[in-house]
Amino acid sequence: MILVLYLRPIEESADDQAVRKAARLLQAGGVVAFPTETVYGLGACFNQPKAVRKIFLAKGRPLDNPLIAHIAMKQQLSLLVREWPPLAERLTDAFWPGPLTIVVPGLTGLPEEVTAGLDTIAVRMPNHKLALALISATDCPLVAPSANRSGRPSPTTAAHVCKDLGKSIDALLDGGDATLGLESTVVGVSAHRIVIYRPGAVTEEMLRRIDSSVEIVYQANSTETPASPGMKYAHYAPDAKVYLMMANATARTPELVENLSRSGEAVGVLAFDDTLLNIPADIVRLSLGPRNDLSFAARVLYGQMRLADQAGLTILLVEAVEEAGVGRALMNRLQKAAHKVLEE
Ligand code: TXA
Ligand code: MG
Repeated sequence: MILVLYLRPIEESADDQAVRKAARLLQAGGVVAFPTETVYGLGACFNQPKAVRKIFLAKGRPLDNPLIAHIAMKQQLSLLVREWPPLAERLTDAFWPGPLTIVVPGLTGLPEEVTAGLDTIAVRMPNHKLALALISATDCPLVAPSANRSGRPSPTTAAHVCKDLGKSIDALLDGGDATLGLESTVVGVSAHRIVIYRPGAVTEEMLRRIDSSVEIVYQANSTETPASPGMKYAHYAPDAKVYLMMANATARTPELVENLSRSGEAVGVLAFDDTLLNIPADIVRLSLGPRNDLSFAARVLYGQMRLADQAGLTILLVEAVEEAGVGRALMNRLQKAAHKVLEE
């Protein structure tokens, strides 16, 4: 059975007993869920293939989807990467610790369980005291995907992790709610080019500010053989079918709710506050917050999707957001979760 290790505010002491206990479990080949600023991760030591396999089993994750290695200090890069372009150094100077994952050529001999057989490795230094303390105490980079069952919304609270994985992991460090709520930006970096595999809180605009001469391309929605294997799977979806409403459809949300309800569906709406004002009070209304605060929407999105399931909804109408700044990451997740996109 799961051991929930941390129930006190993390400021009290980062080298708390709970962290040391979790570190010992990891060193002994266990898997431990821990908080980061993006979402909760399920960690194992990068150099213990048996432990890494437990992550895939617990999540039900396809084996051809490689993992992100989380480090606490840049010296740990030498255990993982073969080449480190100057552009990668500049990006990490600007955004680490933080929600930016960098894909570079990996050292030969990294476990196939980690790289899924690719010759690259994804690395990130999370901006979370407890995560950094855990990696340091373990004295080993931790590979960690999001700590959800594969395909489900990523966990932003310890309770979400417990619900999805409580029976199949060794421990869970509870560090409270994730502050960002969406997974990190994943980029491939070469000399003069950045490929965005997965948009996140570090936006294209922020990357461009580091060097206005680099070429930035997206490969997140590519239908070709994906260079980032995670992009080809359906993701982030609640059990309720997500109908993603583009602007014209959002304008007639009340009508959509009425029609779907009449045909016997348990309909709920996940939208900005002003859209929710027009929805009858007997309908489950889940807020994305004020329209002008996309960071708030990012923080609450996955938790609200999980509430839709707890409310027993069969269809969740979700309002599309503007694809600027972090809105691009939000729309990326919503499009992946969507069963249908309603244009009109
Ligand atoms: O915020 C995050 O990134 C969270 C926290 C726990 O750090 N982790 C996370 O991991 O979201 P995961 O496994 O759910 O997503 C990792 C993504 C996948 O889309 C995967 O395909 C991609 O990163 N990835 C991993 N290694 C890669 C590589 N070598 N090349 C390209 N993409 C890679
Ligand atoms: Mg994930």
